[in-house]
Amino acid sequence: MRIIDLRSDTVTKPSPEMWEMIKSLDNSKIGDDVYGEDPTINKLEKKAAKIIGKEAALYVTSGTQGNLVSLLSHTNPGEKILLEELSHIYEHEFDGATRVAGLKIKRYPSKRGVPLLDDLQNLINTKEDAHKAPTTLICAENTHNYHGGVIIRPEDLQNMKQFAEKNDLKFHLDGARIFNAAIGINMPVTEFTKHVDSVMFCLSKGLSCPVGSIVAGSKSFIMKARKFRKILGGGMRQAGIIASFGLVALEPKWIKRLEEDHKNAKLLAEGIENLDLPIKIQKPDTNILMISLPQDIRIIKVITALNKEGILAFNIDKQRIRLVTYFGITKDDIEYSIEVIGKVLTPEISFKLNERDIGEGDAVSYLLFSRSLDELTASQKSSVSAAVACCCFSRASRVACRFSSIFRAKRAGKIRANAQKIKTVLTNSQRRAVDSRVKLLDEYKLIGAADLRHRRRRT
Ligand SMILES: Cc1ncc(COP(=O)(O)O)c(C=O)c1O
Repeated sequence: MRIIDLRSDTVTKPSPEMWEMIKSLDNSKIGDDVYGEDPTINKLEKKAAKIIGKEAALYVTSGTQGNLVSLLSHTNPGEKILLEELSHIYEHEFDGATRVAGLKIKRYPSKRGVPLLDDLQNLINTKEDAHKAPTTLICAENTHNYHGGVIIRPEDLQNMKQFAEKNDLKFHLDGARIFNAAIGINMPVTEFTKHVDSVMFCLSKGLSCPVGSIVAGSKSFIMKARKFRKILGGGMRQAGIIASFGLVALEPKWIKRLEEDHKNAKLLAEGIENLDLPIKIQKPDTNILMISLPQDIRIIKVITALNKEGILAFNIDKQRIRLVTYFGITKDDIEYSIEVIGKVLTPEISFKLNERDIGEGDAVSYLLFSRSLDELTASQKSSVSAAVACCCFSRASRVACRFSSIFRAKRAGKIRANAQKIKTVLTNSQRRAVDSRVKLLDEYKLIGAADLRHRRRRT
């Protein structure tokens, strides 16, 4: 079976050039990094610091470790830090900030990762306060994973930096995908990083290395971070072997390649949008696409059904599915994925008929809500009048399908427009039936044939 893994860009495998690089290594290019003697790591850290626009950089095992050494280096136990409410550090790093660094966390709300500064101000404890732990650090995430790979623009980071300075806070950026942000709005990455005191970025996501992340900041910050990395078990000795992948990953040509992933994510979004299902698709800024299912759909069922057809996806919460593009996912994979997603999602989330839902007079409702006559039982079929079945179903079924999904998506304006279209192929009595159902729209935003029947009985 063809498998397309869209769960995460962490599953990316190295490029052929990366394998060439690793083959070119010999013992002269590796050494003990804890003593600062691994030439490949030294080269990588120097290269990373230059690209990201900081004095110094440190190779760490993972993004999680990079964030944690940054928090440890900026703070003292007992202090308070500000984290965005859906941030990776807050939600997905096993509370290392509290458990290991001994920090107290205040979450801040945001609009797609960007806080309202007034909200933030209310969360600050000053150093002069005799009763409360002082707030000493604020973090941001760019691109923001759980908001859907959204880009926080440099000017927003600048505002946050000014806020941090005013309140005597350090500013750390979880920039696991900061190069996606830079490529996404075609700006140098330093336009983002110049506003923060420290940044962590991952080599092992869109940049396609099998392992490793970078922390960067001032020389004194990195000196501290190096010690905390050792405490966390990240002194990896002859790690130049794995770090060598990073030397290829940080070539400008390879960073620019991220554009392909962004294009593919857009293609995927458009393809799914064209399926015309009652789902919400967030237009992707970068390589992450979020789709939200209707509330009554069990997301696990959908994920399992997709997996069975070879499309691996990740449910980020009870309603949202995340799909991620990366090196190795081709345009052809995207087209195939759209086809399979359509095949799986359509029956999962289309209106489900049951025996009670349809009777003779509800033939038009059926057309508005269902996708195929095959879904009817024999008795339901016979109760659909021949005229409606022939005239409407054959000629208007496509419109009806559109109609049903839009209907459930509560886009009443469009429904009315489509009702006009569908009416052109109906007989007069069928038109009247459509009219009466559209009228009900104003009362029932989301309506099924069963509701119509109940109402008809009452009136
Ligand atoms: C925004 C963000 N930060 C940090 C991390 C942690 O990276 P790692 O998995 O290398 O620990 C991730 C991982 O997905 C992430 O998405």
